[in-house]
Amino acid sequence: MSNKQSRKIWLSPPHMSGEEVEHVKEAFNLNWVAPAGPHLKKMESKLKGFFNVEAAAVLNSGTAALHLALINLEVQPGDTVLVQSLTFSASANPIKYLGAEPVFIDSESETWNLCPQLVIEAIEDLTAKGKKPKAIIAVDLYGMPAKWAELQSIATEFDIPIIEDSAEAAGSTFMGKKCGSFGRMAVLSFNGNKIITTGGGGALLSNDWNLVNHARFLSTQAKDNAPHYQHSYIGYNYRMSNITASIGVGQLDCLPVRVLQRRHNFDLYFKELNEIEGISFLLEPYGYYSNRWLTAIMIDPEKTEGINREHIRLALESENIESRPVWKPLHLQPVFKDCPFYGNGTSEDIFRYGLCLPSGSSMTEDDVKRVAFIVKKIIKQKSQHADSLVVNAE
Ligand SMILES: Cc1ncc(COP(=O)(O)O)c(C=O)c1O
Repeated sequence: MSNKQSRKIWLSPPHMSGEEVEHVKEAFNLNWVAPAGPHLKKMESKLKGFFNVEAAAVLNSGTAALHLALINLEVQPGDTVLVQSLTFSASANPIKYLGAEPVFIDSESETWNLCPQLVIEAIEDLTAKGKKPKAIIAVDLYGMPAKWAELQSIATEFDIPIIEDSAEAAGSTFMGKKCGSFGRMAVLSFNGNKIITTGGGGALLSNDWNLVNHARFLSTQAKDNAPHYQHSYIGYNYRMSNITASIGVGQLDCLPVRVLQRRHNFDLYFKELNEIEGISFLLEPYGYYSNRWLTAIMIDPEKTEGINREHIRLALESENIESRPVWKPLHLQPVFKDCPFYGNGTSEDIFRYGLCLPSGSSMTEDDVKRVAFIVKKIIKQKSQHADSLVVNAE
């Protein structure tokens, strides 16, 4: 049988429970097919309960939530904002929307998130140059919580607010506390590839009700309280639609189960691949609980006789399986090439060696084993294949 005929395994596809459609039907029956309606409030109230925060605003993307969070902190043209380099570009793009300057910070190797020492170094250096950062954007990458104890004490010491980019980490915890509740404000994403999805959407969370309320106001075109349209602020069309929120209401009920399913994928990959020379996993330090949004493996070609992550990605692709290199650090992206960077080499190594394996919560054990089997096979064939597969992991 041709490999192309095998069932496609996607990296992280949407996973509906079936209950969502009842909430959507309800929204239709009530005719709340608008960027207003009862499901928005329902979703916000569920978010507050799940994340144990004072306030939540649902928006049409995580990127919009980051943009509004930066506006709330009055980030202006010329300001600097520290941001993790090893992340998706959306973590940094909103800094540019405001004409401010992203300053990229490297990761530490235990969580792959912001390196606290480098954050301090950057703050001290920039402050000495008269450019004290206005905010810090800290990411919980692939679901792994950042070093929150250290980062929160840095934020307090230097009096710089943190925006937690928890787009990938719904359901993760650090010391029993939910990711999405650590920053002054936090951002979630419900994009199609996330652990729960509304097909596109996001949220801003905070314990400061005023910040969330202002973001919600800005997200609905900043209409002043008047019978005519009156505006005292520049507004945005960033509100989630009520239909989208009705999907979210159903998806939020599944979140605890989805976390267990993704963690089960990780455990199975670990069991299948951990013994393979040259393959390693990101483990949870004490007190860390990752939703394992994506399981990433590191492949060290020096220990696999030259097989690198790109060989494995292509082997999986030829078997109709989607995998993806770890995020390319933003300080290496052409669009950000002129931005300052405080580095230690960690994110570049993770990018060089890291590959995200299919991690959807609807994967069966056989699916995970099928992926693991191909990874093992290509590494076992190493000596015959390494020379013929001329591929660079760049
Ligand atoms: C780390 C991170 N930040 C921000 C975003 C942006 O979220 P959205 O796609 O909902 O705009 C994403 C995902 O898309 C992400 O992975």
